[in-house]
Amino acid sequence: MLALAQAAGDTDGAYPLSEHVVLHLRHGGDAPAVHLLARDHDGALAGYAHLDTTDEVEGAAAELVVHPLRRRRGLGRALVRAAMEVTDEVDPRGRLRLWAHGDHPSAGALALGLGFVRARVLLQMRRSLFAPLLEPRLPEGVALRPFRPGADDEAWVRVNARAFADHPDQGRWTLRDLRLRMAEPWFDPEGFLLAVDERDGRLLGFHWTKVHGDRGHHHEHQHEPIGEVYVLGVDPDAHGTGLGSALTTAGLRYLRGLGLDQAMLYVDESNVRAVALYTRLGFARWSTDVSFRRVVHPVTATSR
Ligand SMILES: CC(C)(COP(=O)(O)OP(=O)(O)OC[C@H]1O[C@@H](n2cnc3c(N)ncnc32)[C@H](O)[C@@H]1OP(=O)(O)O)[C@@H](O)C(=O)NCCC(=O)NCCS
Repeated sequence: MLALAQAAGDTDGAYPLSEHVVLHLRHGGDAPAVHLLARDHDGALAGYAHLDTTDEVEGAAAELVVHPLRRRRGLGRALVRAAMEVTDEVDPRGRLRLWAHGDHPSAGALALGLGFVRARVLLQMRRSLFAPLLEPRLPEGVALRPFRPGADDEAWVRVNARAFADHPDQGRWTLRDLRLRMAEPWFDPEGFLLAVDERDGRLLGFHWTKVHGDRGHHHEHQHEPIGEVYVLGVDPDAHGTGLGSALTTAGLRYLRGLGLDQAMLYVDESNVRAVALYTRLGFARWSTDVSFRRVVHPVTATSR
């Protein structure tokens, strides 16, 4: 399945699965996922859909991919239909979202053709690390220090949930979600910056950076290493103090200190405050991920 996803990513210029799906495939997940496999007549694995039906708030979500050489044979449509059937069994409202990475035109055509509408837009923004980076200006009484695995886990989960209370995915990360990532080869506590109150050590915000395509793992990656603003969060109590800008800048300086020349991040297009912050700090739109939502008609007494 990962080889299939890689082949599609190379062809489309956008990797078709999100990070948490890849983590599920490699390590197994805490919640049961439905894996739908499509085989061509010669028996070869030609398509894959990952379906997560555990989100009771937003409804089920799926990501799917068909091998570039096996497209336009109805496999994509069959995978979406199968996902719709599974969803109907577990959710009387039949809610389902499809994520398309890279906003590939085939995804829109497939989704709209099956009665889905565009729902959410996730931007990838990028910034050169050669462009000037100001000194981070921390609010009075706030200090920065690296994350300490074990000691900071619980406080981080709490502040993350508060910072992302309105965010569909990020706000629900649990200790397990955190520790899964701490066990990944890219995890680097030095690049996971915490902003704490100097008086009592209380966590006020954080900037977790991530390096993709680390030079140490050169052979696994086909692109130049790039730094990511992986998760940036500020406790609502500390909003409006300039901490978000200071944390962003501090993390970017850390990434530049590693010798990286570019940084990227994902942000919801509707998160205007965050998009404005990143734009002010020199980020620009690079690519777009779109989610499509199934339009579910109210169940009526007449048979269909
Ligand atoms: C989107 C994707 C899964 C479609 O797979 P597929 O097996 O080629 O899809 P199907 O053959 O079932 O096509 C179903 C319909 O979608 C539309 N469609 C699919 N690809 C299209 C394209 N390149 N251009 C225009 N319409 C397209 C057509 O209406 C098609 O019906 P038709 O062939 O009868 O005209 C595949 O292109 C893919 O893996 N893309 C990259 C990953 C991705 O974007 N995933 C998210 C999907 S929401």
